[in-house]
Amino acid sequence: MSHKTESHFNNEASNTSSNPAFEQVLETRLSRRSLFRGAGLAGAAVGAASVTGCATTMGSGSATQLDRLGFKAVPKSLADKVIVPEGYTAQVIYALGDPLAAGVAPFKNDGTDTQFEQRAGDHHDGMEWFGLDAQGKPSASYNSRGILGVNHEATTDEKLASFFIHANGGTATLPRPAAEIDKELAIHGLSFVEVQTDGKRWAYKTSSPFNRRITTMTPAVVHGPARGSEHLVTKYSPDASACRGTLNNCGTGKTPWGTFVSGEENWFGYFFRDAKDDDARKKDKQVQALKRYGRNAGAASRHGWESGGTEDRFVRWNNSAIGASAKDDYRNEMNTFGYVVEVDAYDTTAPMRKRTGLGRFAHESVAFAKPVAGQPIVAYMGDDARGEYIYKFVSDAKWDPKDAQPANRLAAGDKYLDKGTLFAARFKGDGTGQWLELSMNNPQIANSSYFEFKSNADVAIFTRLAADAVGATKMDRPEWNGVHPRTGEVYFTLTNNSARTVATADAANPRVYTDMKGSKEQKGNVHGHIARLADASPAGMTFKWDIYVFGSEADADKATINLSSLTDENDMSAPDGLVFSPATGICWIQTDDGAYTDKTNCMMLAAIPGKQGDGAARTIKHGDREVTTYVGKTPTPSTLARFLVGPKDCEITGWCETPDGRAVFINIQHPGEGTKMADVTNPSKYTSQWPANAGYGAGQRPRSATIVITKNDGGVIGS
Ligand code: FEO
Ligand code: CA
Ligand code: CA
Repeated sequence: MSHKTESHFNNEASNTSSNPAFEQVLETRLSRRSLFRGAGLAGAAVGAASVTGCATTMGSGSATQLDRLGFKAVPKSLADKVIVPEGYTAQVIYALGDPLAAGVAPFKNDGTDTQFEQRAGDHHDGMEWFGLDAQGKPSASYNSRGILGVNHEATTDEKLASFFIHANGGTATLPRPAAEIDKELAIHGLSFVEVQTDGKRWAYKTSSPFNRRITTMTPAVVHGPARGSEHLVTKYSPDASACRGTLNNCGTGKTPWGTFVSGEENWFGYFFRDAKDDDARKKDKQVQALKRYGRNAGAASRHGWESGGTEDRFVRWNNSAIGASAKDDYRNEMNTFGYVVEVDAYDTTAPMRKRTGLGRFAHESVAFAKPVAGQPIVAYMGDDARGEYIYKFVSDAKWDPKDAQPANRLAAGDKYLDKGTLFAARFKGDGTGQWLELSMNNPQIANSSYFEFKSNADVAIFTRLAADAVGATKMDRPEWNGVHPRTGEVYFTLTNNSARTVATADAANPRVYTDMKGSKEQKGNVHGHIARLADASPAGMTFKWDIYVFGSEADADKATINLSSLTDENDMSAPDGLVFSPATGICWIQTDDGAYTDKTNCMMLAAIPGKQGDGAARTIKHGDREVTTYVGKTPTPSTLARFLVGPKDCEITGWCETPDGRAVFINIQHPGEGTKMADVTNPSKYTSQWPANAGYGAGQRPRSATIVITKNDGGVIGS
C-alpha cells in the first residue's frame, strides 16, 4: 500500500484483543507436540540448493546461487528517476493506461482516457512471471517471452477521486458521478500482459491472446470452507457460491502447480456503512467482526462508489443491512473480500477462485515452502495492519510431484488449497515460537467466549478473531514474506508500527524510538525490521526465530535503533516487498517508506542472508524496561546493498525474473502521490513526472509502471 494511504485513510489498528505480550502468555494452553530442537532441521527438511521460493517454483535455476553481491551500491537519492548500479539499465515497459487490446487508443494521459477495462490498471504491485516458449506454450525455461501477472492495488487519491485519471481531477464530494466511478472500478484488480524481448529491448504486446484484465466487477467463484456460508449470502449470490471482483491486491505468489495467487489487502476501506447499521443488524456477531475488520457503523468509503446511483455496481459498496434479508442487499459484500485469489495466467477464460481456506485478513504475499513429495503444501502469509498476525496454511492433500505440471492448474489449486488448516504464530521471548491452530478442532476456537465460531467457515471468514482467540503475537505490520531457497527459512517484513509502545514492546517487536523527519517526531517502530522463522518442518507446530535485519538510518544509535549496524550502502526504512530469486538466491527487499523520505526516495536492496541464529542476543533498554531480542549477523555491503532507488513519492514493489536471472521486472507504484488534487492540471506542481520524464508515454501526469532491469553485459542480475 502507500504510506500516504496508511496515514490519511487507512490507519488501521483495530486489534483491540487483549492478546498479551508473550512474556505474560500462559503456557498452559499451548501443549502441542514436542518442542523444536535445532534450526538445522529446517534446512535438512527442504533439502539443499533447491531453487524455489516466494515467487518461484517454476524457474529453471540455470544461474547459480550467489554467495556475494557483485555490484556497487547506489547512493540514497531524492531525484525523480530510477537509479540502478553502474553497468545496469532500467527500462519502462508497462504503465497505467497502456492499451491491452487492438483498437484501444493510445493512452493520452490527460484525464480524458476511457476503456480502462482494456488498459493497464493503476498502482502496479505484486507481480509474477509465467513463461512462454516460441510457440506460445507454457515454459519454465524460455527466457525471452512470458506473461506478467500484475496486481493493481489502488489509485492515487487525496479525497474520493482518483484525480490523475479525471480531466480536472474528478469530484471530491458526494454523490460522485457514475462515469468517474466506472473508470475507478476498472483501474483496480489484476492484469495479465504478454512481454517479450528481441534480445535488445523488452516490450509488452498491445494485442496478445494472453492479455487479460480482472477488475472489481469480474465474476469470481468462492472456494474452500466459506463457500455456502450464511455470511457470504448476497443479492448477487443467494447461495454464497459466487461473488464479484478482487480489490486492493497487494502481494502475490506463484503456486507449485504454476498459478498466480494474489492477496486482497485493504478492501474494507472501500465500503460504506450506515450510521445505524449496528442496530439494523440487531447487534449480531457480525457487528463485532465488522469492527475488528476496521468498519465501524457510519464508516465512510474511500471513493464513495456507493453513491453512483441505484445500479447494482454502485449499491454493492453499501455494506449495510438495508433490505429484508441478506438476499436483498449487500450487508455481506465485505465478507466476499479479504482472501487469496487464484488465477491461471495461461487460461484467460477460467474464473478466478477465492481460496477462503487461506483466511480473511489484509493479505500481502503468499510464499510456498518447497513442496516435498508425500508432504502437505505449506503457504506462509502476513496480515498487514498494526498489531496483526503471521499465518501459515497447511494442506490436507499431500504433494504429488506430477502436479508441478498438471493438466488443469486450477483443479490442482482446488486439491491443495480448499482443504487444510490455518495457523497463527506466537513468538516467545526465548527465541522459539509456536503455530496455533485455527479450526474447530481447537477448543479455544470451538468453545470461545470471545467470538461465536460455529464452523470452519466462520474461521475462514473471521480469521482475525480466531487468531485473537488463541493468543497469537501482535506484530509490527507483517507485509511480504519469502522462503529462502537453501535453508527453507521464512523471512517476513514487518514494515513499521507507529502504535508500538514501550509497554507493548516484545522480543520479536523490540524497538520503540523517536526518529526525526526534519522537525517532525516519528514514534514507535519507525523503520521496521525483517523477522526470520526456521520452522521445525514446514508443516510442524514449532519454530525458532531471530531478526534478520533491523531497518534504520545509518547514523542512528546502535544500542537502541541501528541494531544491525547498517551503513550508507544499505540503510533503509520500511521494508515491504520481499522475494527470493529462484535463479540466484538473492533476497530482494523493497521499501514503502514515508519516514526516511526527507533523505531518500524508496528503494530496493539485494541481500544474501545467512541463517536463523547466526547473530546474537541483544538487550535494549527502554527506560526501566529491558527487552531481549535476537539479531542476525551484521550485514556487510557484500551481503546487503542498495540496488535501486525510485522516483519521487513512489514505493518499490513487485518482483519477478526470467528463469535465467538475466532480466528482473519490478514495479514503481504511485510516483507523485504527494501531488495536490488542486494541481492536477499544473504539471509544474506535480511532485513527480515519472515515467514521462524517462521518455515513456504521453502527457506529464505520473503513472505507476513496470520496469525491466538488465545488465549491460548480459549477465545475471546482482552478480
Ligand atoms: Fe499493499 Fe501492506 O502493502
Ligand atoms: Ca529521520
Ligand atoms: Ca505491501
